[in-house]
Amino acid sequence: MATQAIFQTQWQTYRKVIDRNYMFHREVYGLLHEILVTEAPQPFRFLDIACGDATGSAAALKETAVARYVGIDLSEQALALAAETLKPLPCPVTLVQADFAEALANWSEPVDVVWIGQSLHHLGTDAKGGVMHHVRRILNANGLFLIWEPTLSDGEDRDGWLDRFEHGSPPLWPDLDATEWDAMITHVRASDYPEPVAGWRALGLNAGFRTAETVFVAPTELARVYRYRP
Ligand SMILES: C[S@@+](CC[C@H](N)C(=O)[O-])C[C@H]1O[C@@H](n2cnc3c(N)ncnc32)[C@H](O)[C@@H]1O
Repeated sequence: MATQAIFQTQWQTYRKVIDRNYMFHREVYGLLHEILVTEAPQPFRFLDIACGDATGSAAALKETAVARYVGIDLSEQALALAAETLKPLPCPVTLVQADFAEALANWSEPVDVVWIGQSLHHLGTDAKGGVMHHVRRILNANGLFLIWEPTLSDGEDRDGWLDRFEHGSPPLWPDLDATEWDAMITHVRASDYPEPVAGWRALGLNAGFRTAETVFVAPTELARVYRYRP
């Protein structure tokens, strides 16, 4: 999967974006923590799809009733970091190096909370729906499915969203040097496929979820967090 190469070779650039809170990781993972404490089944089994280095999830899972953690990611580098980051969790941890669409198609272990942070948008619309169907299949009836994904504004197309990302004012990620920014923008242009709010909602309802709601809008309005209930 050549378009995901940036996460194989340049994790430190993405790390810089996280550390400067350019994508609002702090707010998003803070919200995830609140939802895990107040809305998730207690205790809960947590599936982290495209977990990356799991720093956000590890923080969100602190002082929750997590009983099992499974993370899936393609990047060996990120998973090696995740293994360290997740050591303090008071539950069994499994990390799977795989394409999440393939892993989910063969998944049978039930889970209570499924989280996807900034990764489903790499797929086309039908493939996004396919992943959501599998999530619905393995999720318990009282479980939660949460995603944080790039979202088009009303009436905007992909080119408009990409232009807003690349040429917005003030610049989105000012501390990246030219090489880092070029690598990021090349990745975003090649692999990011945002959906409109109505699209993310319809994908969830078509996959069999009863409800689909926005629970967070990034201040840049480039992405949102959605909560789906079976
Ligand atoms: C933008 S990072 C998000 C990491 C983390 N979830 C977060 O919230 O910061 C995207 C992650 O998705 C992973 N990824 C992208 N496509 C994937 C796929 N098809 N299967 C598994 N992992 C994938 C990348 O390796 C990378 O770790």
